[in-house]
Amino acid sequence: MPLALTLPAPSPATAPPAPAARPAALPHGLWRWRSRSRPWPRLWSQRSQLLERQHSRIEALLEQLIDGEARTSLCQQLVRALGLHLRLEERWLAEAGCLCPGHRLSHRQAAELAARLPADSAERLSWLLDLQQWFHLHRYGADAIAYARAASAPTPFMSASR
Ligand SMILES: [Fe+2]
Repeated sequence: MPLALTLPAPSPATAPPAPAARPAALPHGLWRWRSRSRPWPRLWSQRSQLLERQHSRIEALLEQLIDGEARTSLCQQLVRALGLHLRLEERWLAEAGCLCPGHRLSHRQAAELAARLPADSAERLSWLLDLQQWFHLHRYGADAIAYARAASAPTPFMSASR
C-alpha cells in the first residue's frame, strides 16, 4: 500500500506534530518523542541538536531495515519519521532564514521517494538503499551547509510556540 507523504510549507501558525501523527514506539527505544510538557527549543543550537538526534535515529532505522527484515510496519514508521523530521527542519530553517528553494525541493524529492514504499518486500531493499543514499548525501551536504548558516545567523531567537 503506497503511503502519501506531504510536506506542508512552514508556517508560523503551524503547531508541532500532533501526538496522533507520531509513530509508535520502535524496538529498543529507537524513537523517543519529546514530552508534551517540555517546550520546543527556542535557540538554533538546541534545535540543531534535536534535528541531529533525529538524523541519527533515522540513519539507524535505515541500517536496521537494510540489514534485517524490512517489515511493512517498520518501513511505514521510517516514512513517518522522515516526513516529520523534514517538516520540522524546514520550519526551523525557514525561521532562521536558511531554507533555500533547492533545499526545499530536495526534501520534496525525498518525500516523493519515501511515498513509493514498495508493497513487494523484494523491492524494498533497493528503495531503502535509495533513501539511505539520499539521506546521507543530504545530511552531510545541504543540511550541513544550512545548519552552519543558521548557527551563524545574527538572530538566534526563534519563536517559543514551536
Ligand atoms: Fe534538509
